[in-house]
Amino acid sequence: MVLYRKYRPQKLSELDLVEVREKLKRTLLSSFRPHAYLFSGPKGTGKTSAARIVAKILNCVQSRDMEPCNKCESCTAITEGRHLDVMEIDAASNRGIDEIRDLREKIKLVPVTAKYKVYIIDEVHMLTNDAFNALLKTLEEPPSHAVFILATTEAEKLPETIISRSTRLNFHRATNEELKQALNRIISGEKFKLETEVIDLIAEYADGSFRDATKLLEQAVNQGAITIKNAREMLGIDTVTPEKFLLDLSRKKTKELLSAIVEMADKGSDFRLFVTGILDRLQAILLDMHQIKQDNLAKELRNLFSLKELNLLFKLFSDTYMEMRMASRPELPLETAVVEWCERK
Ligand SMILES: Nc1ncnc2c1ncn2[C@@H]1O[C@H](COP(=O)(O)OP(=O)(O)OP(=O)(O)O)[C@@H](O)[C@H]1O
Ligand SMILES: [Mg+2]
Ligand SMILES: [Zn+2]
Repeated sequence: MVLYRKYRPQKLSELDLVEVREKLKRTLLSSFRPHAYLFSGPKGTGKTSAARIVAKILNCVQSRDMEPCNKCESCTAITEGRHLDVMEIDAASNRGIDEIRDLREKIKLVPVTAKYKVYIIDEVHMLTNDAFNALLKTLEEPPSHAVFILATTEAEKLPETIISRSTRLNFHRATNEELKQALNRIISGEKFKLETEVIDLIAEYADGSFRDATKLLEQAVNQGAITIKNAREMLGIDTVTPEKFLLDLSRKKTKELLSAIVEMADKGSDFRLFVTGILDRLQAILLDMHQIKQDNLAKELRNLFSLKELNLLFKLFSDTYMEMRMASRPELPLETAVVEWCERK
């Protein structure tokens, strides 16, 4: 099983987004329990997981301290996605009025086995206007056994009327501390051995998403990248790309360029191959400039140089390529080319 499924939080205490966890707990404890929740926030921060946990707490037959037991028939059915009264609807593929009408009809019927009928509507911002209006009517007068949990990554696309009818909970990008908490739970669960710096690095690269963090951890372990050196390599942090090199050339960053060359020399990189890569990119820029083969070019390289500059660079790097064959050390002509270009007025 993939790690992010295996380690999906199954109770409130496992939600590592601290602020959300506390708010959710307070809301559930209050005497006024909402009939509609709105979970908004970036990908992989636990909206779907939290929605299922809420459904469990509402329907668990032996819930304690505001946590589901995760053992009763209701809890296990929700975990396995087969509970008859807990419906998950993906609004991205069920956008229209018919689906919501159908929902409005069915929601009137009392729950089959549980206390509450829970509707989890994912990516709710994808609904059509008509569907929103139909949903709104249900949100205005929900049957007492109904609970809605709307989840979205783009709350700004929702009509104000929907937002104002729901109790909103903002999921934010996880902090590095929160991500590390989640990573460490998996690491001890799976008995992985990694250098602590690797965990820091993964948290740094996870873009605030628990899912991304978990996937990066899985990738690192699968590739044996458990030392900081290998993990940096896996993430491509230390490699100099022709794109980056050209960007630095356009900004005449002599120092960065020269140290990139030193780094490549230390690693034993193939300089002729690297210069070929630069010439290829220059050609792509030229073709793009003339509206030929435009999909071949990285966006940041578009319009980086004028035609005159392109011609100069072609000449410079073609010469470099030829000189490399004769040079005592292949990086020398490249260094000369960099200095020549950067000091050109
Ligand atoms: N609060 C959290 N604490 C620990 N792990 C989490 C948390 N939230 C998410 N995860 C991890 O990330 C995975 C994805 O979470 P989930 O599907 O709930 O996110 P989501 O917000 O619904 O994302 P999306 O917007 O992409 O649907 C989970 O399976 C779990 O591994
Ligand atoms: Mg989700
Ligand atoms: Zn239970």
